[in-house]
Amino acid sequence: ASARGENHDLAGRRIVVTAGGTREPLDPVRFLGNRSSGKQGVAIAEAARARGAEVTLIAANLEVADPAGCDLRRVSSALELQAAVTEAARGADAVIMAAAVADYRPASISEQKIKKDGSGDGLTIELVRNPDILAGLGHAPHDGTLLVGFAAETEPDDGRLLELGRAKRRAKGADVLVVNRVGWNEGFASDDNSVVILGGDDEIVTRLHGTKPSVAGAILDVVVSKFAHTAE
Ligand code: CTP
Ligand code: CA
Repeated sequence: ASARGENHDLAGRRIVVTAGGTREPLDPVRFLGNRSSGKQGVAIAEAARARGAEVTLIAANLEVADPAGCDLRRVSSALELQAAVTEAARGADAVIMAAAVADYRPASISEQKIKKDGSGDGLTIELVRNPDILAGLGHAPHDGTLLVGFAAETEPDDGRLLELGRAKRRAKGADVLVVNRVGWNEGFASDDNSVVILGGDDEIVTRLHGTKPSVAGAILDVVVSKFAHTAE
């Protein structure tokens, strides 16, 4: 299969992609966020569309233009993303979880803007865990839906990075995991990405450094090959 989108090897497939980074509200004007731009997820949605898939894009605070031709559902927080992806995943051929989902959210959302306190020189915010959306999908029955997760890791050592990715794939019940090194200057807003794609037996399927569209093509090549190995 070509990664360039001239072929329609995803025709007749329904693919759900999550992209961007969640924002967890603190009060009407503030949130806790992360540096995900949505570039990689949007590149996957665009490439899947070009290869003939019907694409639902669940978009969390994208910093890039909306892709054309996708069923776009905007969300902001992790809980909103969970509701949208859980609904869209029903009967989908694949769910690709490229979004950076906040692990924690503020325990309560203030109705009013939080004011500085005259006396203290610090502020403590209590956080509670968000649900692990991918693990929730992976541990529920999902026959016929291929689950592709990402792992964002800052681990510098290659061997350790792979170990972290393998453990993450198993913990979440994902069929494919894209291990992505991130850092101050790597991953997020950049145009390139370095990834290792792990399959269901923890084998390395692909190792690639390239533009986000080329990484998107490689991920979809793996998705197509997994479809080919699954009985209809
Ligand atoms: N993910 C999710 N729900 C969360 C957190 C993450 O569905 N609450 C998904 C991400 O979309 C990604 C994968 O899980 O596909 C891995 O995200 P990552 O942050 O790398 O892993 P975590 O399991 O959150 O582990 P940690 O951040 O502690 O390394
Ligand atoms: Ca996380």
